[in-house]
Amino acid sequence: MDRRLSELDTAWSRLDTAGAAAKDRRIEALFDAEPDRLARLGVSAAGLDLDLSKQPWSLADLDAALDLARAADVEGRRAALFAGEIVNASEGRPALHMALRAPRGADFRAAGQPVSGEVDATRARMKAFAEQVRSGPTRAIVHIGIGGSDLGPRLIWEALKPLDPRIELRFAANVDPNELAQALTGLDPATTLVVVVSKTFTTLETLTNAEAARGWLRAALGDAADGHLVAVSAAPDKARAFGVPADQVFAFWDWVGGRYSLWSAVGLSCAVALGYEVFERLLAGAAAMDAHFAKAPLEANAPVLLALAHVFNRNGLDRPVRAVVPYAQRLRLFPAFLQQLETESNGKRVTADSRPAPHATAAAVFGDAGTNGQHAFFQLLHQGTEVIPVDILAVRQPTDGDPEGQKKLLANAIAQAEALMAGRSESDVRAELQAKGLKPAEIDALAPQRTFPGDRPTAFLLIERLTPEALGALIALYEHKVFVEGVLWGINSFDQWGVELGKTLAARVLGELEGGPAGRHDPSTAALIAKLR
Ligand code: F6P
Repeated sequence: MDRRLSELDTAWSRLDTAGAAAKDRRIEALFDAEPDRLARLGVSAAGLDLDLSKQPWSLADLDAALDLARAADVEGRRAALFAGEIVNASEGRPALHMALRAPRGADFRAAGQPVSGEVDATRARMKAFAEQVRSGPTRAIVHIGIGGSDLGPRLIWEALKPLDPRIELRFAANVDPNELAQALTGLDPATTLVVVVSKTFTTLETLTNAEAARGWLRAALGDAADGHLVAVSAAPDKARAFGVPADQVFAFWDWVGGRYSLWSAVGLSCAVALGYEVFERLLAGAAAMDAHFAKAPLEANAPVLLALAHVFNRNGLDRPVRAVVPYAQRLRLFPAFLQQLETESNGKRVTADSRPAPHATAAAVFGDAGTNGQHAFFQLLHQGTEVIPVDILAVRQPTDGDPEGQKKLLANAIAQAEALMAGRSESDVRAELQAKGLKPAEIDALAPQRTFPGDRPTAFLLIERLTPEALGALIALYEHKVFVEGVLWGINSFDQWGVELGKTLAARVLGELEGGPAGRHDPSTAALIAKLR
């Protein structure tokens, strides 16, 4: 075994040992034992404040986790990422989303080829297009795309849209015809743009919806319909072949992964509906996080520390699920966005060099906005049999609305993080019930129900205000966190072969549902097809 691999194995063993020891102590106890805990486990980056002190690791465990990051060569892999090396080996591509948001005049190279000039030219085209549309009759945009061609733009729009937008932005992702029907209802084709976004321009859902939307435009506008169609793709020839006028096709590149693409022309609908300068501010926030990630030492690097905290829970403590709760209604789609970013990137069972992954990889991610989630799944978080670590996001100043409501929202975010860690001991509960005059038998019956074990970790992320810059920084923080996790696990975070089989089988089943010859299936599947044929 070469030296690096043996160092890596040793570092993983130390992390496992640290995780096992963490099971026998409480997070709260670490605050007394470690006076500089808050300082070492708090980090500020690109205007975001991250507190990882309510995590189960001790400062010695943090050191072990940092050693793991060094042994896995996070710094070297980070340099390779930014240098545009082929970090996505199974598809033979770099992953250079940072080039899309770099300040103008940067010099990023994808596998040695300069790309920043083309990026700047596309940004200039997007700006001109946004200004032209915003000064014209358009009142609505229907954005058609799925997965990475949908979740990012949807999140941006929800997070940043004005209360009374001059141009309304609607989305249709699902091949379920209900979604497009809802998106088109009430819109006037004469004042609507349909923006079709697909990296490959082969995706069944998107092409089905694009054809239906074009039919809707043509029924009202005849030959003028195509002037209302815009496309964004890394296969611009396919978009033109579909019938989108060439000057309304915006390109991006194969080195932009779908779930990392919102920074490219994939964000065009948002750039138009929000105004181009808002889009540029989003990019600037992400670029600030890129600069931090690229330069900050590992022990003060927000994406690295967040990744290590998550890995400590995932691997050291064997916790396969994590919750994400943004205490901000405008960020309610963030858990869904992260679900794709984290699980499509890191839901892998083999390493980048095709060996079985030696460590458990991506945790399942779920969540919803706080406080809504408190009235839904927080019971599970507080008293379920599994410990589910939580990322809590809070925004200090509201974008709109009553500041009193905002204070209540923040109070809940803070109180939940405290309650998850502190819990409520059975002896406290018993004392309270006794003080209320309950009989001993009643206390025996009730006390276990009202006890909270606590010791449930949270990562607390505080955002001053949900500006475009802060949103950009937030998304980039998690993108880089996912990258660091991928490096630790030795997997390729930038491919997604696991979605292919379902696509192939769906095409086969569709042929059968449409009356084609029956294929070979298990009895359950065959019965379903027969029923629906
Ligand atoms: O779900 C698989 C996937 O390839 C995602 O990674 C991607 O974002 C989505 O499909 C949509 O693909 P496209 O942009 O090519 O239509």
